[in-house]
Amino acid sequence: MIVDWHQRYLQQAGWTRDVRIYLFERAGIQQARRVLEVGCGTGAVLAEVPALATRFGLDLEPAHLSEAHKHVPEAFLVCADAHHLPFSDCVFDITFCHFLLLWVRDPLQALLEMRRVTRPHGAVLAFAEPDYSRRIDEPATLAPLGFWQTESLRLQGADPFLGARLADLFYQAGIRLLETGILQERRNVPSRPRERELEWEVLAADLRGLLSPEEISRFEKLDAEAWAKGTRRLYVPVHFALGVV
Ligand SMILES: C[S@@+](CC[C@H](N)C(=O)[O-])C[C@H]1O[C@@H](n2cnc3c(N)ncnc32)[C@H](O)[C@@H]1O
Repeated sequence: MIVDWHQRYLQQAGWTRDVRIYLFERAGIQQARRVLEVGCGTGAVLAEVPALATRFGLDLEPAHLSEAHKHVPEAFLVCADAHHLPFSDCVFDITFCHFLLLWVRDPLQALLEMRRVTRPHGAVLAFAEPDYSRRIDEPATLAPLGFWQTESLRLQGADPFLGARLADLFYQAGIRLLETGILQERRNVPSRPRERELEWEVLAADLRGLLSPEEISRFEKLDAEAWAKGTRRLYVPVHFALGVV
């Protein structure tokens, strides 16, 4: 099964929309002239930044950037590494990331760079960094899924527990914290079929090589049955942080 990454990023953008609107307001988005997203992927979140500001997006992956070009044609898009941002000091009013820091080799260095390119009193935001150490899967028969997905993230080079360190990383980067928290859990939300399909496209890709196709199908069936009965709970705490420079 091939993962449609733009659809997946749109799905994730939906999960964080309310908190993003609130935190962008707090960060002064209405007055911002230049806004940068580091690790913008296909532009799912960048496209939702109010268009009053000039938008910049940066990513390592050229294929994601060509997709982003279609979704946010007015943005300035740059192919570069979050560890070495190709911008002068103090040029952005707001610099943000969304599901990025868990993927970078040195998240502190990425935050130091985000701070450097942000003007004094400007805002740095990390909207969504998960902590899989506290993942909850119910019913218990589905608990192994969390274990295997965490293993898979680790094998792909991610830090599945980054969310738990987010506030401390802001502190270490010299970004003064204004607000941190965890996205609210939405319990017993009837998951739409396409939502579940997307979840399983990612899960199946993550589990391939760790579990047999038969085992993956067995978990998928148990998952579908639990959603149908209303007994499924899948919760991964996702941390956010807003700070000023
Ligand atoms: C999970 S995706 C999130 C994309 C986007 N922020 C969103 O939420 O829709 C993570 C993105 O970070 C990019 N990325 C990972 N490491 C990076 C790095 N060192 N520098 C720049 N981008 C990076 C990946 O290519 C990918 O597009």
